[in-house]
Amino acid sequence: LENGLARTPPMGWMSWERFRCNVDCQADPRNCISEQLFFEMADRLAEDGWRELGYEYINMDDCWSAKQRDAAGQLVPDPTRFPSGIKALADYVHARGLKLGIYGDLGIFTCGGYPGTMLEHVKQDAETFAAWGVDMLKLDGCYSSAEEQAKGYPEMARALNATGRPIVYSCSWPAYQGGLPPKVNYTILAEICNLWRNYDDIQDSWDSVLSIVDWFFTNQDVLQPAAGPGHWNDPDMLIIGNFGLSYEQSRSQMALWTVMAAPLLMSTDLRTISPGAKEILQNRLMIQINQDPLGIQGRRIVKEKSHIEVFLRPLSQAASALVFFSRRTDMPFRYTTSLAKLHFPEDAVYEEEISAKRHIGSYSSRLKTQGFSGKGFFSQGPLRPQLCPEEEP
Ligand code: DGJ
Repeated sequence: LENGLARTPPMGWMSWERFRCNVDCQADPRNCISEQLFFEMADRLAEDGWRELGYEYINMDDCWSAKQRDAAGQLVPDPTRFPSGIKALADYVHARGLKLGIYGDLGIFTCGGYPGTMLEHVKQDAETFAAWGVDMLKLDGCYSSAEEQAKGYPEMARALNATGRPIVYSCSWPAYQGGLPPKVNYTILAEICNLWRNYDDIQDSWDSVLSIVDWFFTNQDVLQPAAGPGHWNDPDMLIIGNFGLSYEQSRSQMALWTVMAAPLLMSTDLRTISPGAKEILQNRLMIQINQDPLGIQGRRIVKEKSHIEVFLRPLSQAASALVFFSRRTDMPFRYTTSLAKLHFPEDAVYEEEISAKRHIGSYSSRLKTQGFSGKGFFSQGPLRPQLCPEEEP
């Protein structure tokens, strides 16, 4: 969507994967969906180095609203969990140099059973969100038909535009239509949405990460050309920092989302995150590659019988990022390849040890490796790929 927004994949925090639809503030005041949770996450984003790295959106997901619209038909937040209102939350977030995202659902109800946005409410809800000072909208697609979605998603794009407020627009439309043509038209999506969920919800497990990775790269011929500045595929939230991934698996999610040019929307408890998880999410090299201004989504270029896979993302200034990813479950593995095999024009031998389930980083001539055990090679331009000396993190 050419609204001047999301020129690089959006970065920030989103409540859903980690905090779900926990609305029991009596029993669980610290973790329930309430303004307190968002105040506290905004504090962490602003004070713990996240904002400076680009993590600027703080996104509410489902279950923020009251069970009914008000007498004027307007969406209202749950009064006990959001006593200050969404405008005050937006002000709080803006005062810290951050941006606020909200959640709606094109349908009768949200997936969690809260009031949805049916066609007759599209304009009103867009105006409400703009009046509150919202900066991003995720529009989910529970409880609507394919026909309603085909009308409603473009209509919301027009309604948001008509408010005059810059609002990043995330559409879950393709995820509800199987994610692939002919049901999904990526040309239309890129015109009306800044990002879109293509596939299943991420869950807190390595199996879930792998199923998403498999789907995205199996279908890369369809998906990869759809992405670019202002319009991104969204393989869903980063679950790093939660309970389901090992350290190496967490590094893998970060590297794979980076090479996919995916939005980096963390869903974890930033109040208690471990130093290790934080270091992965704050890895400057990964972020810099993810945010490369050319905005070209990477592709899987090698899938070995040995369960090693190689991914390539072209970057600006003729640099490239490579990710070596092992799905092996035995032991560290010596993988030998060459620049020629990886489709770089000059031949040079490259050897690397890849430990089980561990990717070995991404490399570029202009970026120093930081923390991603950076042995590897980089290119100085498409015509002069070179081996780079080993670098310690
Ligand atoms: C389905 C979406 O895909 C999830 O990301 C989340 O927003 C839930 N709905 C909320 O109910």
